[in-house]
Amino acid sequence: MVCFSRERMINMNSIENKRIESYRNYFTKEYLMGPNSLRLLDEMLKKYPLPEGGRVMDLGCGMGLTSMFLAKEAKVNVFATALWISATQNAENFRNWSVDDRVIPIHADANNLPYAYGYFDAIVSIDAYHYFGAKKGVFEDKILPYLKKGGVFITAMPGTKEEPGGVPAETLLEWMGGNRDDYDTFHCRKWWLDLIGKSDDFEVVMDFDLDCFNEAWNDWFESGHEYGIKDKKYFDNGMGGYLSFIGLVIKRH
Ligand SMILES: C[S@@+](CC[C@H](N)C(=O)[O-])C[C@H]1O[C@@H](n2cnc3c(N)ncnc32)[C@H](O)[C@@H]1O
Repeated sequence: MVCFSRERMINMNSIENKRIESYRNYFTKEYLMGPNSLRLLDEMLKKYPLPEGGRVMDLGCGMGLTSMFLAKEAKVNVFATALWISATQNAENFRNWSVDDRVIPIHADANNLPYAYGYFDAIVSIDAYHYFGAKKGVFEDKILPYLKKGGVFITAMPGTKEEPGGVPAETLLEWMGGNRDDYDTFHCRKWWLDLIGKSDDFEVVMDFDLDCFNEAWNDWFESGHEYGIKDKKYFDNGMGGYLSFIGLVIKRH
């Protein structure tokens, strides 16, 4: 067994944190759309690094922060795909961030993706999959076919620690502004694993709760975004204790 001194551990942590800290200028209400997606992606890529040079779909890329991070840090070519943000707006972001040679903005619905089957080395979806993936068959029918054999789907999404009844239902529904669809996206890791199920065509190679839960939410609260301020009130009232960030890595056979 290798034992490291406390100083060495602190040093290793600060080297590991350096990558994400260099993106601090982007932790703002102009770019964040929820808990800090860069932190979430950074942790996923540390736990499951992608080989350089591959072709990656960033599914539900928001303002494109995660696509930019993938291009710069994982050194992959990215198809930045989102429904709520236009391709024109994201094209401008990618130009401003000097990644427009490696990141292509696409406006598309995950339920009807405009890509060739078997095209991607990886599909990454950060704080987005729960919006469209919480139904039986979505993963196998609408996501998996776009991966090459041996390709991986990597997602990090908000959920609950337990269910059913793991969260005070009334408060969760109130937090979601009474919107049943949003409410129904919050589930625990086991629920997601059961939904995705088992098949000879794929294998869940990692499932865990992300370590950066508190930091990712705190960055969002501190961004000054009006939704972040609202979310903090619910966390301060105890909601945070029921929640988790769920990480899954699934490999196509
Ligand atoms: C909360 S935002 C997160 C964005 C980004 N990943 C981030 O964390 O900054 C949710 C994202 O999911 C995407 N989304 C929701 N439903 C979608 C669908 N049916 N197809 C494609 N993208 C979808 C939205 O376009 C948006 O980019």
